Amino acid sequence: MNDWLHIGTLNDIPAQGARVLETVFGDIAIFRTQADEVFALRDRCPHKGGPLSQGIVHGRRVACPLHNWIIDLDSGEAVAPDAGCAQRFAVKVERGEVYVAAAVAAGCSKAA
Ligand code: FES
Repeated sequence: MNDWLHIGTLNDIPAQGARVLETVFGDIAIFRTQADEVFALRDRCPHKGGPLSQGIVHGRRVACPLHNWIIDLDSGEAVAPDAGCAQRFAVKVERGEVYVAAAVAAGCSKAA
């Protein structure tokens, strides 16, 4: 069972942007798409550790600001031809309030 951290409201996250949650597990980037979907990934690009929270969100993907790898927000995986995976965290939105799973991070479906 997840412990959920309340991190604020949906409106605290810029549309097509992100905010960073500092945790004992490391920084987590909370992304908001134009369609108001919310995703949470470790704020660390699987390429060379760039801050994904500073990337540009387009659709359900984010472009890393350092070398432009494209990361799928739902799976955390880099879009081919690049390969790698950013750790995912469960996130939910209830009545406009955003919660992130405090401890359990979802693994990557492919070995990085
Ligand atoms: S660190 Fe993200 S693309 Fe290189």
